[in-house]
Amino acid sequence: VKRVRTHHLREMKQRGEKVTMLTAYDMYTAQTFDEAGVDMLLVGDSASNNVLGNETSLPITVDELIPLTRAVANSARRAMVVADLPFGSYQASPEQGYLTAVRFMKEAGAHCVKLEGGAEMAPVITKLVQGGIPVVAHIGFTPQSEHTLGGYRVQGRGEAADRVKADARAVQEAGAFAVVMEMVPGDVAGEISRELDIVTIGIGAGNQTDGQVLVWQDAFGLRTGRMAKFVKQYADVHGVLLSAAKDYVADVQGSTFPGPEHTF
Ligand code: KIV
Ligand code: NA
Repeated sequence: VKRVRTHHLREMKQRGEKVTMLTAYDMYTAQTFDEAGVDMLLVGDSASNNVLGNETSLPITVDELIPLTRAVANSARRAMVVADLPFGSYQASPEQGYLTAVRFMKEAGAHCVKLEGGAEMAPVITKLVQGGIPVVAHIGFTPQSEHTLGGYRVQGRGEAADRVKADARAVQEAGAFAVVMEMVPGDVAGEISRELDIVTIGIGAGNQTDGQVLVWQDAFGLRTGRMAKFVKQYADVHGVLLSAAKDYVADVQGSTFPGPEHTF
C-alpha cells in the first residue's frame, strides 16, 4: 500500500474525488479505519472530551496527545496521520507553534499537523510550512475558541460569510495544504471549495466540500446522548459493548464463565 500524501489529496480534488477523514486515537480504531480506506486519520484534540473524560477540548496537553498520536501513526499503513495542536501550544508565536509541531512529527510520527484559526494564524502556518511541516488549517467554528465565539454556533451566516471566505483565502495563501471548515453554511462552504485550490474538509459544512470528517465516537455511536445536527449515526457501538459487558457480568455471576473449554 502507498501512503496518502499531500499531492495525492491535491490530485483527488482535481479529479473531483472526495477525501475521507475520521478521528482516531488508538491502535485498533486506526487499523480498522485505515483498512476501510479512510484517507486521513485525525488525532484530534477532541480526545480531550472523547478519551480523557474532560468536558471540552481545552484541557488536553501536548504531552497527553503525543502518545495517542504515536499509537495511530504506528498503526496506519495507508492513511495520512494528522496531529491536532492543543489549545495554547501554538497561539503565542510562530516559534512556539513550530516547536510544538516538531514534537508531534519527531516524537509521535505524525505526517502533518492541524491548527485552528484563519487570517490571524497565517504567520504560524507559514513558519511551519517553511520548516517542512505540512499544515491543515481549521476555520469556521473553532472549538478551542468556544468562549470567544459564544458557544457552538454556525459561523459565516449572512454578512459573516465574508470573514470565513477571507480566512479560507488567507490559510491557502499562508501555505496550508488543506482546510477543515466546521459549522459553515453549505452554500458558503461550497463557494469556498470551488474557489480554493487546496482541499476543503467539512464538518457541518454540507456536501459541496472536497472531503468530510466526523468524530468517530459520534458517528459510530460509542457516545450516546445529544448529537449535533451534522452527525449521521452509522452504528451503535455503545449498544454492542453494553450488551457484551452485561453478558459477561451475568456469566461470571452465574458461574457459567469460564466453562470447561476455557479451563486448563
Ligand atoms: O478534534 C477534532 O476532532 C477536530 C475535528 C472535529 C475536525 O478538530
Ligand atoms: Na480539533
